[in-house]
Amino acid sequence: MVTEEELLTQLNRSCLPRHVAIIMDGNGRWAMARGLARTFGHQAGMESLREVVRLCVELGIQVLTVYAFSTENWRRPLSEINFLMGLLIKYLYKEVDELCARNVKIKILGNIESFTPEVQAAIDMAIERSQNNNGLNFNLALNYGGRFEIINATKVIAQKVAEGKIAVEEINEALLSRHLYTAGQPEPDLLIRTAGDCRISNFLLWQIAYTEFWFTEIKWPDFRRIHFLQALVDFQNRKRRFGGLCFN
Ligand code: FPP
Repeated sequence: MVTEEELLTQLNRSCLPRHVAIIMDGNGRWAMARGLARTFGHQAGMESLREVVRLCVELGIQVLTVYAFSTENWRRPLSEINFLMGLLIKYLYKEVDELCARNVKIKILGNIESFTPEVQAAIDMAIERSQNNNGLNFNLALNYGGRFEIINATKVIAQKVAEGKIAVEEINEALLSRHLYTAGQPEPDLLIRTAGDCRISNFLLWQIAYTEFWFTEIKWPDFRRIHFLQALVDFQNRKRRFGGLCFN
């Protein structure tokens, strides 16, 4: 088994992904395999998130996006939803000092209007506290759905056309990108999904057109620096062609 030190030696720091997106899956299965309630898995997943954020800062990665709550997650039992919301509040208040000390800027991808005032207050606090930071851009996808995001952008663009602010001929990929939550950010170069499922689950549908995927059986609460480094090294060994010919 390759060690963290070996992976760090193999890693080419001059060609890291600019944007890494993560589907943090497997919390429930991790807990149930240990005879615990699913919520223990979410709790344990916080440590994985902490490690990954620290490593992204250490390596100088520009953008990290994590799928923390999808538009489909409302279908879960209310008790689990409430637990996740409580965890989010705790996470934001507890981590904001460290995140700011590491120059991390927090951004939310998703519609947070459906969250309770307590959750929204915690989010607003974290955004405000970190607004002047210019290190890692840390996107938390909350009540996020890729299709919703595209529909939303389409409505805004249609409205602008109706008002004569833009012409139909001006609608192109760049314009649509500018109307997404990720406006101004590079698209993900690498998307990691833990816990064995090989699907996208409505995550960043527009932005992942040319993203490299890295799937692992490791469940999110077990995901550590070494796994992230493994994903980065594997990514660097891929040949990205963007629909053209191979240049490397
Ligand atoms: C997927 O596991 C995970 C989630 C739906 C929530 C992700 C939340 C965390 C990692 C907690 C920490 C993050 C923040 C920002 C509070 P699952 O429940 O779908 O697991 P399963 O597929 O095994 O059921």
